[in-house]
Amino acid sequence: MVKICCIGAGYVGGPTMAIIALKCPAVEVVVVDISVARITAWNSEQLPIYEPGLDDVVKECRGRNLFFSTDVERHVAEADIIFVSVNTPTKTRGLGAGKAADLTYWESAARMIADVAKSDKIVVEKSTVPVKTAEAIEKILTHNSKGINFQILSNPEFLAEGTAIQDLLKPDRVLIGGRETPEGRAAVEALKAVYAQWVPVERIITTNLWSAELSKLAANAFLAQRISSVNAISALCEATGADVTEVAYAVGRDSRIGPKFLNASVGFGGSCFQKDILNLVYICECNGLPEVATYWKQVIKINDYQKSRFVNRVVSSMFNTVSGKKVAVLGFAFKKDTGDTRETPAIDVCKGLLGDKAAISIYDPQVTEDQIQRDLTMNKFDWDHPIHLQPMSPTAVKQVSVVWDAYEATRGAHAVCVLTEWDEFRALDFQRIYNQMQKPAFIFDGRNVLDADLLRRIGFIVYSIGKALDPWLKDMPAVA
Ligand code: NAD
Ligand code: UDX
Repeated sequence: MVKICCIGAGYVGGPTMAIIALKCPAVEVVVVDISVARITAWNSEQLPIYEPGLDDVVKECRGRNLFFSTDVERHVAEADIIFVSVNTPTKTRGLGAGKAADLTYWESAARMIADVAKSDKIVVEKSTVPVKTAEAIEKILTHNSKGINFQILSNPEFLAEGTAIQDLLKPDRVLIGGRETPEGRAAVEALKAVYAQWVPVERIITTNLWSAELSKLAANAFLAQRISSVNAISALCEATGADVTEVAYAVGRDSRIGPKFLNASVGFGGSCFQKDILNLVYICECNGLPEVATYWKQVIKINDYQKSRFVNRVVSSMFNTVSGKKVAVLGFAFKKDTGDTRETPAIDVCKGLLGDKAAISIYDPQVTEDQIQRDLTMNKFDWDHPIHLQPMSPTAVKQVSVVWDAYEATRGAHAVCVLTEWDEFRALDFQRIYNQMQKPAFIFDGRNVLDADLLRRIGFIVYSIGKALDPWLKDMPAVA
C-alpha cells in the first residue's frame, strides 16, 4: 500500500487529501499538523473549515484510509510520498518584508523530514512558493540525507475556496513539475499514477520544476488581473453612465477573452491573490526586472483603490460623514460559501468606515464574532501566521457589533453595505429592512447581487459598483 502523508491540515491540505483518499482506496493518507485544535476538529463532527461537500467526503474516508494526526514525525517517517501544504505567508519583517514569501514553515517542515526519514521519499511542494524553492529544499534535504534519496516535485494547487471539492474532482488540469533526470521522471510518474485514478491523463501536465512553480504564481496573477481590469472599468462606468455588467458581458463574449472572472466587485480578497502577486513582484525585482514588477504591482494598487473608492462613496453619499451612524455590513467572508476571511475586502472597508467613526453591525452566515474582531484588530499580513494558535485579541473594537441575522444588523441603520455575495442576501425582505432603517436609507451593493430597481421602488438610495449613479449620489461631492 502506498503511504501518503500531508504536512499542513489547512484549506488545501485537508480537502486535497480527502479527495485523494476518496479516489484511491488503496492508498493510506495521513494529514498531520502542529495545531492540536485543527487536528481535533478534523477528527470531530465540526470540521475546521466550511466547504460545501467536504463533510460527506471526510465522513466516507475518515478511519478507512484517511487519518488526521498530530504525530507529525511518525507519519512522515512512514510515508512514501510527502505533500507539504503549510502556509507560505508574506514576510512581515526583515529583507523583503511586505512582499517576499516567508518560508519559515516550509523550511522547518523540510528539516524535520530530513531528520526523521529512514527511507527514500518523494517530497511534493503543494504550498505556493517562490520559483526555485525546490532547489533550496533539495539543498536542505540532501545535506542532511544520510544516504536517503529525496525527489522534489512541484504540484501546485489550483482549487478555489467554496468550490474546492468540485475543483478537486474535476480539475482543469493537474500540474506536476520534476527534475529532468531518470529519478525525477520516475517520481513524476509515481505522483501522476495517484491523480490518474480519477483525472483524465490528458489533463495531467508535466513540466520542469521551475515552470510548475512559476505557473502557479502566474495563474493567480492573471486571474487577479482580470478582476482589477474590470474594476478599473467599473470606475469609468460610474463616471460615464455605462453599465459594467453590460460592458463585461460584451467583452467576455469574445471567445479569446471568455466570460469568467469578470464580475466587478468591491475588490478581490482571499489568502492567495495579493500574497502571490507580491511574491511575484519581489521575484521580478530580485531578478532585475523592475518594469515587470511595476506592471503586476498595479493589479494590487487598483484593488486597494477599489476598496477605498467604495468607502469614499459610502461616506460622501451620506453627507460626508458616517460618524455615529449605524452601518450594517452584510457579509464578511472574502467570497460566498466559505467562512474564510483572509484578506477579505470587508476588513479594509470596515476599517475605513471605523476611521470615520461609524458604528458597524456585521452579519455573515459563516464567520464568528471572534474571527471578525481578530481581523479588525490585526496588523496587515499577520493573519497568515498560524493565528489559530494565537489567543483571541484582548481589545475588541467597541464600535463593532456582530449579529446572527441580517434584519438585526439593519435595524435602525442609516446604510447597508453588501460585501459578500451570499445567495441568502438576494432573498431578504427589503421592504421590511427599509421600514426599520433611518431615512434616507442607503444601500451600497459591493457585489452587484441585489435588484437595484426594486430597491429604488421601495425608496432606497442605491449604489451598485460600475452602474449609472442615482441622482442623489451624482449630486454629492466627487469621490477621490
Ligand atoms: P492554512 O493556513 O489553512 O494551513 C496551513 C497549515 O499548515 C496550518 O494548519 C499550520 O498549522 C500548518 N503548519 C505550518 N507549519 C507546519 C509544520 N512545520 N508542521 C506541520 N504543520 C504545519 O493554509 P492553506 O490555505 O491551506 O494554504 C497552504 C498553502 O497552499 C499556501 O502556500 C497557499 O498559498 C497555498 N494555496 C492555498 C489555496 C487556498 O485556497 N487557500 C489555494 C491554492 C494554494
Ligand atoms: C484563487 C484562485 O481562483 C485559485 O485557482 C487558487 O488556487 C487560489 O486563489 P480563491 O481565492 O479561493 O481562489 O477564490 P476566487 O474564486 O479566485 O476569488 C478570489 C477573490 O476574487 C474573491 O474575493 C472573489 O469575490 C473575487 N472575485 C472573483 C471578483 O471580485 N470577481 C470575479 O469575477 C471573481
